[in-house]
Amino acid sequence: MATSSLPGEPVTSEPNIHPSTAPADAPATPTPETLAPEPASDVASSTQSLSESIREHVYENGRRYHKASWGKYAMPTDDTELDRLDFTHAFYLELLDGKQYLAPLDEDPAHVLDCGTGTGIWALDFGDEHPESKVVGVDLAPIQPNWTAPNVCFELDDLENRWTFDQNHFGFIHSRNIAAGIKNWPRYLTQMYRHATPGGWVEIVEHGLSTFYCDDGTMPADSPFQIYMSAMSKSLENMGVNPHIELEDYRRMLEDAGFVNIQTHSFKTPIGTWPRNRKLRRLGAIISELSNQGFEAYGRGVMTGFGGMGDEEAMRIIAECVRMVKTGEQHIYNQQWHLIAQKPRE
Ligand SMILES: C[S@@+](CC[C@H](N)C(=O)[O-])C[C@H]1O[C@@H](n2cnc3c(N)ncnc32)[C@H](O)[C@@H]1O
Repeated sequence: MATSSLPGEPVTSEPNIHPSTAPADAPATPTPETLAPEPASDVASSTQSLSESIREHVYENGRRYHKASWGKYAMPTDDTELDRLDFTHAFYLELLDGKQYLAPLDEDPAHVLDCGTGTGIWALDFGDEHPESKVVGVDLAPIQPNWTAPNVCFELDDLENRWTFDQNHFGFIHSRNIAAGIKNWPRYLTQMYRHATPGGWVEIVEHGLSTFYCDDGTMPADSPFQIYMSAMSKSLENMGVNPHIELEDYRRMLEDAGFVNIQTHSFKTPIGTWPRNRKLRRLGAIISELSNQGFEAYGRGVMTGFGGMGDEEAMRIIAECVRMVKTGEQHIYNQQWHLIAQKPRE
């Protein structure tokens, strides 16, 4: 937990390890009833399971990966990746015209959770804009800054484990681009429901993981983009992650978890500067820059670790995708999905 400091003074903190969740033992599709509260002693012992191994990284083909996350999440954790994540945050601000979220918050929620916080950039920005909120960012990997703000702290844990936060606690839960590390979405959303306050909001931000889209026939069946997505989605399946979840599936799962007032937003996000529309062209330019690292970040560890592909082959496909984006010949785009949903006020 963050140590105390004078108001407004940056806090130096180490991410807390394993306080927020406990080992998963629930059935595959739980209901709120099956997520019974943990006995206090179990919470304490999970909190005490501090281990230096949580901080260990492994190096593979020149990239750094978080050791304890392997098998759950296969994207790198080195500086190149952290820069990519921060730049992706800037992309989302551009996409949402400067907004950090779409949920209709009328006041600062007392407690806010950022799931799969990554570098913590969203949590820190939110905390800055909402000084009355206490924000906690949870992630598998220790890639958050040691300095933080007085109202923001970070915890290390697997959000697929049973959450040990108080029930009815968070006025806002934000979850962005975590799909490559979530194997059981119904359970994940049910935990969000259980730990949201009555009337609290959740916001889910994800994009397609199994296909690129193209409306004008410029992406042939043998396109490197198709080869890449096909290899990546097979590899994710081998990991136990379903890459085929789309907007309507997320909407239905939120509804099944009990949320109401669900709103969905779908944005076409071009990869490359091929669109004529000014805003899309600008977004496409940002994504083109992001994709220099993005194809490798998403694909390399997954395809070599879980798809049975050699590193040379994986990097050949990745390099071909990066090259093809620059030519602008194939007019591909992805879909960015934003869903907001509310827990009933009771
Ligand atoms: C693509 S990054 C997105 C980071 C951040 N949400 C953002 O939008 O800037 C995904 C993050 O989710 C984390 N993650 C993936 N699966 C997780 C899990 N099961 N529990 C906790 N964190 C997870 C990863 O470690 C990684 O930092």
